[in-house]
Amino acid sequence: MTIRPATRTDCPGILAIYNDAVLTTTATYDYEPRTLAQREEWFDQHTRDGYAVFVAEDESGRIVGWSALNPYHARPGYRFTSENSVYIAADKRGQGLGKLLLSPLIDAARARGLHAIIAAIDATNEVSIRLHAKFGFVQVGHFKQVGYKFDRWLDVIYMERLLD
Ligand SMILES: CC(C)(COP(=O)(O)OP(=O)(O)OC[C@H]1O[C@@H](n2cnc3c(N)ncnc32)[C@H](O)[C@@H]1OP(=O)(O)O)[C@@H](O)C(=O)NCCC(=O)NCCS
Repeated sequence: MTIRPATRTDCPGILAIYNDAVLTTTATYDYEPRTLAQREEWFDQHTRDGYAVFVAEDESGRIVGWSALNPYHARPGYRFTSENSVYIAADKRGQGLGKLLLSPLIDAARARGLHAIIAAIDATNEVSIRLHAKFGFVQVGHFKQVGYKFDRWLDVIYMERLLD
């Protein structure tokens, strides 16, 4: 297994993992799969703005997980804060890949001069909450019923990692 910065050619692999999570989980509140063009545009914007994207690639060359830093908010006063993403292919979860992909993200955030990382996590996503807690993220908020997917209201937990 290799953990490395993503390249544009990894976009189909990143997209496949994300779209499966769209259709089968409440990890994201998106309803519709995204297109490759949208994912490539996302990647290009990240590259331009210097937001890190990492992938996990297995021995066969398949992309089995990814992580990214994302801008938290467009207003300039928020520029030292980032929101993170981490997604593992369904058949590769629970094998430590989340940990391998979150670790370099925190280093990349520090290198970029960021001050805070926010993780917005569905309140039922105990694995993600546990993963983030392991890396020093602390719960700072619990928003009740702000999401709606699969015919039910969903709570979102905000966890924060300060970098100083
Ligand atoms: C959440 C996710 C990124 C975690 O990555 P992962 O590779 O499955 O998790 P890891 O194997 O690195 O394990 C992280 C921690 O969770 C625990 N864990 C993993 N799977 C678990 C399970 N099914 N039940 C309970 N704990 C579990 C691990 O034991 C580990 O904790 P530990 O080090 O204290 O033992 C991954 O499961 C995933 O992509 N899920 C769907 C998308 C998603 O939820 N993304 C996050 C959106 S906020």
